[in-house]
Amino acid sequence: MTTAIDHQDAIQRRYTGGAIAFHWSIAVLVLVNVAIGLFGESLLAGIPNQMPVHKAIGITVLVLSIARTGWRIAHPAPPPPATLPGWQRLAARISHGAFYILLIALPLTGWLMVSGTEKRRELSWFGLFDIPYLPVGTAAGDAGHELHEMLGLLMAALIVLHVAAALRHHFVLRDGTLARMLPGAR
Ligand code: HEM
Ligand code: HEM
Repeated sequence: MTTAIDHQDAIQRRYTGGAIAFHWSIAVLVLVNVAIGLFGESLLAGIPNQMPVHKAIGITVLVLSIARTGWRIAHPAPPPPATLPGWQRLAARISHGAFYILLIALPLTGWLMVSGTEKRRELSWFGLFDIPYLPVGTAAGDAGHELHEMLGLLMAALIVLHVAAALRHHFVLRDGTLARMLPGAR
């Protein structure tokens, strides 16, 4: 039988609505951008306007992620399940921290790359307004390019690990970890 204390405990162990909204809106945008970045010229070739969309989504992720980081500093995550071994708590902290860094660093390097190039192309937020270029030269643009490719692959690898961990918690450990990040789930 569920007691009032169990219920209270379950609520405290859930992510808040704000954390869930940030998580899933950013996750969807990042998945679209990784797909365009990695498969735009192969599997997805033929879909028009991919790069302008990639850039506009990327700048959106940057803005949302800066807001999310500020918000997260003021709103700590719920504690992990008591059954979780220490090394897995540490692995979760490190990978979540790496996500927060990548979610800002990756779009910034993309912005750097398209700003520091000989021939700048139009940089627009879905055709609604222009996004300014960063005031940088081609050396910074080249560095941004290299870093964007490296960090893009790192992001893709981290997502694979993260999703595998989420599915393991859900289907193997069955400890409610996925449910606490899903809207409305108990
Ligand atoms: C969530 C944010 C972003 C993600 C996840 C992302 C991911 C990626 C990935 C995985 C690639 C392929 C890299 C490779 O060739 O191995 C890529 C390429 C690219 N990205 Fe992004 N990106 C993001 C934001 C941005 C932003 C903000 C811009 C520019 C404003 C940008 C511009 C580009 C360009 C121009 C390429 C093609 C580079 C080339 O052809 O060598 N990206 N991106
Ligand atoms: C694809 C881009 C994704 C990114 C960038 C991302 C990022 C993050 C971050 C930063 C956190 C930590 C939240 C915090 O403590 O503030 C988190 C937690 C979580 N994510 Fe994701 N995520 C992504 C996709 C997914 C997907 C597809 C799933 C499910 C299949 C998922 C399931 C979860 C779960 C269950 C948690 C909570 C973990 C815990 O309770 O310790 N994520 N994610």
